[in-house]
Amino acid sequence: MTKNPHARFPALRMRRPRATAWSRRLFQENALSPSDLIQAVILIEGNKVREPIDAMPGMHRLSVDQAIELAKEAQGLGIPALALFPFTDSNARTPDGEEALNSDNLMCRAARAIKHAVPDIGLMADVALDPYTDHGHDGLLRDGDIVNDETVKILVEQANIMAAAGYDIVAPSDMMDGRVGAIRTGLDKAGFQHVQIMAYAAKYASAFYGPYREAIGSAGILQGDKRTYQMDPANSDEALREVALDLAEGADSVMVKPGLAYLDIVRRVKDEFGAPTFAFQVSGEYAMIKAAAGNGWLDGERAMLESLIAFKRAGANGIITYFAVEAARLLRKNMA
Ligand code: PBG
Repeated sequence: MTKNPHARFPALRMRRPRATAWSRRLFQENALSPSDLIQAVILIEGNKVREPIDAMPGMHRLSVDQAIELAKEAQGLGIPALALFPFTDSNARTPDGEEALNSDNLMCRAARAIKHAVPDIGLMADVALDPYTDHGHDGLLRDGDIVNDETVKILVEQANIMAAAGYDIVAPSDMMDGRVGAIRTGLDKAGFQHVQIMAYAAKYASAFYGPYREAIGSAGILQGDKRTYQMDPANSDEALREVALDLAEGADSVMVKPGLAYLDIVRRVKDEFGAPTFAFQVSGEYAMIKAAAGNGWLDGERAMLESLIAFKRAGANGIITYFAVEAARLLRKNMA
């Protein structure tokens, strides 16, 4: 493993480069910059609304005007993009999630307003039905089954509606088979050749999504679990097959999700394909750090930055995280 098998203690002293701050900086192998971060944003209807999310201390559901303010700050900090997610009240949800196809829904209005106010920030949208279904699943539920091909048809429409509203990246997070290729074909047919697809390629059936489901209003309503479409946390080779498929179907970038517990997958995907690879540091990861920091059990800022650099070290090109603005502020302060 070592490239210099001859150097041994005491000629070789690994502590030598660690002795001073300048030298530690010089020897640093990976760096985190605001350009690596995509801020995850939870939207809510209304005006001047900043509603705290209980399970995610420090995070708020933001009305569109507030999301615009956040977009301005993110842009000023050098954050390239935002990933938007809608809170949907249970009375606006239906069995088939029709609101997903309403071109005037919260997601579409938010994209238009943010693009108008902050034209140079990238905007990303999930393609999946879970914010809109009354059962909380990402696809259509028929006799206890999440039906694949019928769902994909709707996702294609949803992606086109998002693209028309101004989203730069559509990110299928539903884990239906064949959806990346179908969405690519649909986008191209509708004249959205420039819109990117970031595939949630290796997305695991994870307990770490818990706080997000509260954040978007899915918490109490999810029937069963998502194990018939999301991956088994025990699997690793399967992630490579998922990624291979999504790249072959035209994904511009792929994502591994959740983040910290799946860094081995990030590394394997990066090494195997060399494709643009992103990690999603999900709601539960954010909640764990915030909760421990809130109790004084760890240094929240240091834990945040350490968790983020870990993704870079594992080979990720970027990280979708609820910490983006907070981390970028800190990075900027540390640079000054
Ligand atoms: C839904 C979706 C989920 C997340 C992003 N998109 C949750 C799920 O699959 O149940 C999780 C985000 C997070 O936990 O931060 N398609």
